[in-house]
Amino acid sequence: MFDLIIKGGTLPNGTINDIGIVGDRIAAIESLNGVAATTIIDATGDLVSPPFVDPHFHMDATLSYGIPRINGSGTLLEGIALWGELKQIVTIEDMIERGLKYCDWAASMGLLAIRSHVDVCDDRLLGAQAMLELREQVKDYIDLQLVAFPQDGFYRDPKAKANTLRALDMGIDIVGGIPHFERTMVDGTASVRELCEIAANRGLMIDLHCDETDDPHSRHVETLAAETIRCGLQGRAAGSHLTSMHSMDNYYVSKLLPLMAEAELAAIPNPLINITLQGRHDTFPKRRGLTRVKEMQSHGITVGWGQDCTLDPWYSLGTADMLDVAFMGLHVAQMTHPEEMQRCFTMITEDNAKILNLSDYGLKVGATASVVVLDAGNPIEAIRLRPDRLCVVSKGKVIAQKARNNSQLSLKNRPKDTHRRHNPSYGIAH
Ligand code: FE2
Repeated sequence: MFDLIIKGGTLPNGTINDIGIVGDRIAAIESLNGVAATTIIDATGDLVSPPFVDPHFHMDATLSYGIPRINGSGTLLEGIALWGELKQIVTIEDMIERGLKYCDWAASMGLLAIRSHVDVCDDRLLGAQAMLELREQVKDYIDLQLVAFPQDGFYRDPKAKANTLRALDMGIDIVGGIPHFERTMVDGTASVRELCEIAANRGLMIDLHCDETDDPHSRHVETLAAETIRCGLQGRAAGSHLTSMHSMDNYYVSKLLPLMAEAELAAIPNPLINITLQGRHDTFPKRRGLTRVKEMQSHGITVGWGQDCTLDPWYSLGTADMLDVAFMGLHVAQMTHPEEMQRCFTMITEDNAKILNLSDYGLKVGATASVVVLDAGNPIEAIRLRPDRLCVVSKGKVIAQKARNNSQLSLKNRPKDTHRRHNPSYGIAH
């Protein structure tokens, strides 16, 4: 007897199977014909996926677009300046309210684990307080990981170091930083070294905003990889953005990629943001600013697509849909081969879960029973359509459901076609 059975869905690897759930765990992935359950969801013809995971977000700033003004230049630096104005007027209650609204959006999209950077430069640590409270309020349906992020520079802001440590003492999970925003390259290098030592000493993960610039000489990722090895942080370290790698010399990168692989340093590009913020100082040709995704993957480096922003000082759009993120990433990184498109789906599910070190994630017996049913036939089609989430199950509970959208064409002399989907065979061996 199961609490919930999701019947007949197509899993991301192409197999068709039933999923039986007891409590908050997946208890069976096998044919369950005739088996009883309290609730049965028919997923015949639908994609059944593990939940989406976002490895890079700013929950303290989300849904604040236009407060107190918009980012007129569209640059990273004006965004940081604007956030500096906004954080003087926000309250803990504001941030929790906006965060809860965003988490509703996320849950409805099947996005059930989010790593959020939290600005810790303000002495009052309002963001840290708000996000710790939010993490508690959403824990039954969303896993929220928090990064202590010294937005104004670990050294550049004289109080940032003390406040970063205070935020970690309060229960923030992960060490953050922003070496390219320190006053000098030397300061940036020193910040990476000290932040890695803090992570190692506290047994924490580290995730730095790293080299988010078009400057090819911004090479803090090299230091991050070397310090990851020196401090024994392999598999627990990530570099977010890494946009300078877009502009680096190819010979230098040929040395850098094996070092990153040796360090098991994960990379988190944020394509919606990178494509809009980078290249702003260029005329033409205008750089795209996305890091070298396929090249990293060919070296065995884990790369996950992150969302970064939704309706905030840095980005004026956003939907909490990781399929939008994968769609943009696929285009900008030119990942158009069927295997690459399939990989883009894996990046927003399995690869991102690996970056977050989520235990018990995935479609396997014994894993947490978190599952998304999508109105698509396979992962590539999901990216193409960014379809409705027909059902979202989090930790064994159905938390969102949506009726299938069957539009009816009524054009004369046209065959009646109610199918939005056309399932070409992509020739991927499963
Ligand atoms: Fe960010």
